[in-house]
Amino acid sequence: MKVGIESLALYSSRYYLPLSALAEARNIDPQKFTVGLGQEKMAVLPPNEDIVTMAASAAKEALVGIDPKSISMVLFATESSIDQSKAAGIWVHNLLNLSSACRVVELKQACFAGCAGLLLALSYIKQFPGQKVLLLASDVARYGLGAIGEPTQGCGACAIVLSAEPKLVSFEPETASYTSHVMDFWRPNYKEEALVDGKYSTKIYLEALQECWKNYQALSNRALTDHARFCYHIPFTKMAMKAHERLCRESKRVGYAQNEIQDSLIYSKNLGNSYTASLFIGLASLLENSSEDLSEKRIGFFSYGSGCVAEFFSGIVEPGYKNHLKQAYHKAMLEKREALDVAEYERFYAFRLPEDGGTFSVPQYTAGDFVLSEISAHERRYAKNDRLYAKQDEELAKSVNAL
Ligand code: CAA
Repeated sequence: MKVGIESLALYSSRYYLPLSALAEARNIDPQKFTVGLGQEKMAVLPPNEDIVTMAASAAKEALVGIDPKSISMVLFATESSIDQSKAAGIWVHNLLNLSSACRVVELKQACFAGCAGLLLALSYIKQFPGQKVLLLASDVARYGLGAIGEPTQGCGACAIVLSAEPKLVSFEPETASYTSHVMDFWRPNYKEEALVDGKYSTKIYLEALQECWKNYQALSNRALTDHARFCYHIPFTKMAMKAHERLCRESKRVGYAQNEIQDSLIYSKNLGNSYTASLFIGLASLLENSSEDLSEKRIGFFSYGSGCVAEFFSGIVEPGYKNHLKQAYHKAMLEKREALDVAEYERFYAFRLPEDGGTFSVPQYTAGDFVLSEISAHERRYAKNDRLYAKQDEELAKSVNAL
């Protein structure tokens, strides 16, 4: 029985900061960000968006043409959680009118939680082949103004419908894990920004990759060359390039074909890190930007979550996959984004919802299908966006200045 991805849609903020502007403001050579880290733009969330609105917008698109009643489980992966108790997925479940018979759970293990959701969903579908799972991964990467990780910030969500009728990718059974107790990146409950030992985190990422690859090879008997393409966790695109170089070196391949990874990096280069979603944003980028037909080709996947848990697994691209991509939707979303200047970015960054339990109307900016409209008695309230994709340059400038 095949199990895999029936539908995959992404969402990210309508605002971004060009990293050239950030470099200038921080008095850093822009090439360090564009060449050294391989990043061009950083997606920045406005006050009226959060992990729920991003995931709901992605899910609305992922569910086009799919009977919502067929979704019997929602798994929401995030490390930017909005509540210590209630799963963020319940708000999405409500916004999308999913069935009350559908269960909803939130998952956490840094950036690995999206992959954990995938593995759990695949086992679930094998047990209940008629049922479908909506996997949501949604995150906002925050390190702090002027912090070493600042140029790798970003945000984004993906929504994936997993089922026994895969139309994009079906996953193979061999999958290898690696877990080790390390403090490379973490965020205590009382902190808004991640704590990170940046250079150490890149070292551990590569060590985890080597361990997973060794275990995956032992399980699958496959060589690197049995995989046509690779999707890595992408905290910044240079990290994925380094990862691929490391595997090629381990496998004694001299150099590597750029096309094995380059198409998977295009979206992340323009969004920044989106933690749990980044692996799947890489997959969408690969499938939607590859000029070669990837039907029946094998993709190797590497997921890494600081702390750390990692996984190497593989999937086969389904014939006819091109008919089921959300390419036009993603292209329009990326093209319609508006650039912020550094002062506007810093105001968005500094915005906090009040914590006093009062009623507060959230300032509205251009957003996706859903917005955070109000907080009252500590309860976030969401609404359908009635100003969908409106151009509000003037209003934006006014509201940003008012923050
Ligand atoms: N022109 C071109 N390249 C330049 C340059 C210039 N003027 N100046 C510097 N560079 C290059 C450096 O040579 C370096 O490249 P190499 O690594 O290939 O040598 C690169 O730019 C980065 O520069 P530094 O080594 O000086 O590193 P930094 O101090 O800027 O920090 C970082 C980089 C550690 C990744 C930091 O951005 C960070 O802490 N990021 C957040 C943590 C992170 O993303 N970790 C990744 C692994 S953990 C993970 O994957 C989980 C997750 O999602 C967070």
